[in-house]
Amino acid sequence: MRTHHCNKLRASDAGNTVTLIGWINTVRDQGGVIFVDLRDREGITQCVFRSEISPEAAELSHTLRAEDVIQVTGQCAMRLKSDDVDTTNANLETGEIEVVASELKIVNKAEVLPFQLDKELSNEDLRMKYRYLDLRRPRMAKNIHTRHRVAKATRDFLDDSGFIEVETPILSKSTPEGARDFLVPSRLQAGGFYALPQAPQQYKQLLMVAGIERYFQIAKCFRDEDLRADRQPEFTQIDMEASFVDQEDIIGLIEGLLGRVFKDSIGAEIPASFDRLTFKDAMNTYGSDKPDRRFGMEMVDLTDTFENCEFKVFSGTIKSGGVVKAINAKGFADISTGQIDGLTKLAQEHGAKGLAYIQVRGEERDTWRSPFVKRLTDEELNEMKERLNIEPGDLILFAADKWQPACEVLGRIRLEVAELQEVLKDNTDLNFLWVTEFPLVEYKEEEDKWHAVHHPFTRPIKEDEEKLKAGELEGLRAQAYDVVLNGYEIGGGSIRIHEADLQEAMFDAIGVTPEEKEEMFNHILDAFKYGAPPHGGVALGLDRLAMLVCGEESIREVMAFPKNNKGADLMTDSPAQVDPKQLRDLRIKTVAKKEEKGKE
Ligand code: AMO
Ligand code: AMP
Repeated sequence: MRTHHCNKLRASDAGNTVTLIGWINTVRDQGGVIFVDLRDREGITQCVFRSEISPEAAELSHTLRAEDVIQVTGQCAMRLKSDDVDTTNANLETGEIEVVASELKIVNKAEVLPFQLDKELSNEDLRMKYRYLDLRRPRMAKNIHTRHRVAKATRDFLDDSGFIEVETPILSKSTPEGARDFLVPSRLQAGGFYALPQAPQQYKQLLMVAGIERYFQIAKCFRDEDLRADRQPEFTQIDMEASFVDQEDIIGLIEGLLGRVFKDSIGAEIPASFDRLTFKDAMNTYGSDKPDRRFGMEMVDLTDTFENCEFKVFSGTIKSGGVVKAINAKGFADISTGQIDGLTKLAQEHGAKGLAYIQVRGEERDTWRSPFVKRLTDEELNEMKERLNIEPGDLILFAADKWQPACEVLGRIRLEVAELQEVLKDNTDLNFLWVTEFPLVEYKEEEDKWHAVHHPFTRPIKEDEEKLKAGELEGLRAQAYDVVLNGYEIGGGSIRIHEADLQEAMFDAIGVTPEEKEEMFNHILDAFKYGAPPHGGVALGLDRLAMLVCGEESIREVMAFPKNNKGADLMTDSPAQVDPKQLRDLRIKTVAKKEEKGKE
């Protein structure tokens, strides 16, 4: 249907007869002559309809509307360019030429679109309802292409590295990755449910027992959790597992893979190896296990400075085992009261009792604006000044709480302040980081129970194996690692437990009962009895990776058909009600009854 795509013709093609097909991006009438910017997925070419060339085509061209699909045949011609007139368009790669139409065929008319494609649209619901139109827009089309490049580079790299792609079931059994399952009722075994996989975790480990040695899969995963800009109920992992490897092998593999992905998709060079921080250092310095290190504003511990101070919020917290942490927001002393209130509210939403602050207006302490500075001694203030490198014009923000909540709250405030100060405006850095030595298990007070921090197949470090077996859970560290890019966790993994006895000890530690063990994990405990190789792996979030490659701020911008923040697909209108008969077949009685009543 065409001789060239719409981004192909150049000056060297002038004089040739060509045929193009595509959508009308814009149509302009200039003194009775119609100019069309014809668009296909590759780009745009200008077509012009002159009655002296083809009266029929010129006449028909007056009926053209944006987004009609048309086929144009004509001569590729140079656009006018002289000292007096310049009709070339430097913004288009095809901007030196145009196609002078001798034939026009209207392939399919378009109705007026619900929104214009050449303008940014803030109404995301409308974009989602007509996603197939939204995806025509150059930015979205580019994102979808780039995502393909990311997946292609991944497959190429992993194939070169001896990994083979194996598909694992979507209708499967609940596996504990920390979120709620999506369930699918079985008709053939009425009353039974499949769970959609939160990750292919157990299958990939079983593939290691099966001797596959190097597995990968671009795998759909499903998690029923609260949604955010970087979280969808249905998302994609680049999932990997390998036998006879240690943590260094996996880290090296992922650094190589990401290097290839950034090079092949956007031509970017990234470091051959990334910085590393332990979980503890990351929390202490940035208040996050996925720190954004494109800016400093590092947290400083002032616990010993304020241990005996008059300000009870600090000294009281310290006496009951807590810490005081602070950040220096350089040059932000003139923050407005409204902004301070906003930050305080944010701190409270994250569990803090308040947010102590000092606006450092001048050198002298009586110029400092703060609800509590009068209760601190000169000595305490001087020590603080030195440790935080305080100068006039700075804003100091504090958190006083138990270690982890204090770190987390101030870490969140640090990000918010960076946002307010626009420190990352126009920043195009790619800042990679490994976070290592995560805790193996954590205690959740509300449930009076220990939980696996990653998942229960994660291996403790060698020194902690015996402690796990002995049930001494405090402070156990895992052979687990996350890879972070610009403050986003783009991947995580671990070296696994491959022995039945250690795996049982882990299940015991997190309170899995013998019945649950039997029912939920028998297959894996059994498998470990028949010669399981040492193994480990990792999964990258493909959506988050593609989002960062594309420079977007939401993974919805790199997914063809994402769901909104209520988990709905507005285009197909799902989730939807189903026919009561379907529910009867599945023996879902309560809901089925209700539905039938509604129908009567
Ligand atoms: P984890 O749970 O850390 O590890 O998931 C791996 C990566 O998947 C991405 N991700 C998500 N992306 C979009 N929406 C979501 N709801 C979502 N949840 C997770 C993140 C994350 O780093 N089985 C283990 C991996 C392993 O141990 O090998 C796992 O699933 O980028
Ligand atoms: P007060 O002396 O109670 O008026 O508190 C003085 C300041 O301390 C206020 O700005 C509070 O927001 C702040 N504050 C209270 N509790 C904490 C806390 N746990 N961590 C940090 N700041 C706090």
